[in-house]
Amino acid sequence: MVKLTADFRARVTELPGLFRDVFAASEGEGEGRAIGALVDDLLATTLDGDLLATLALDGDEVAGCILFSRLRYDQDPRQVFLMSPVAVRTNRQKTGIGQKLIRFGLDELRRNEVDYAVTYGDPAYYGKTGFQPITDTFAQPPMPLSQPHGWLGQSLNGVDASPLSGPSHCVSAFNRPELW
Ligand SMILES: CC(C)(COP(=O)(O)OP(=O)(O)OC[C@H]1O[C@@H](n2cnc3c(N)ncnc32)[C@H](O)[C@@H]1OP(=O)(O)O)[C@@H](O)C(=O)NCCC(=O)NCCS
Repeated sequence: MVKLTADFRARVTELPGLFRDVFAASEGEGEGRAIGALVDDLLATTLDGDLLATLALDGDEVAGCILFSRLRYDQDPRQVFLMSPVAVRTNRQKTGIGQKLIRFGLDELRRNEVDYAVTYGDPAYYGKTGFQPITDTFAQPPMPLSQPHGWLGQSLNGVDASPLSGPSHCVSAFNRPELW
């Protein structure tokens, strides 16, 4: 039985290693190192108000984690967050933790008055939690996308699902073309 929480500050030293191990197992050592370094950078350099994380805890073990960081659309008043990366510990995958953690994270964003969530990943998986494919004219990504079919979004405020205006800016850890 896992417990979901958005209280991640006490566990930050463990999170880069969790992401490194999970992505090394699924995508290879190099990707594991790259995502571990991204998470380290996100946790170290992102302003408090621009970062959220949700954890699935099994006793004292972190079984899964998602980071959410702000995406600024200068010409749009709505608050937008990027959901990335997402990891469930390898031996706990396909037991529903990922989807529970995503739903919990989206509720947490709503509680923080975030209007719109985007992510960049597998449409078949993220479609299960409400993400729909969007185009780069509907919401400009902060960098050119190598896999445009993985650009996904959903309105969180139940009202405004109109296109997001203007160019966007990610937090500095994501400011690297090879991540996109
Ligand atoms: C992708 C990941 C987060 C999913 O979490 P999870 O806890 O294993 O997934 P869940 O148990 O919530 O969901 C399993 C369901 O999604 C499906 N699923 C899992 N990964 C999928 C994928 N890549 N594409 C399509 N469907 C997928 C399963 O078949 C299952 O379907 P069902 O609900 O109809 O039975 C997890 O497997 C993981 O950490 N993978 C390695 C890192 C990664 O790829 N992260 C995502 C990119 S940021």
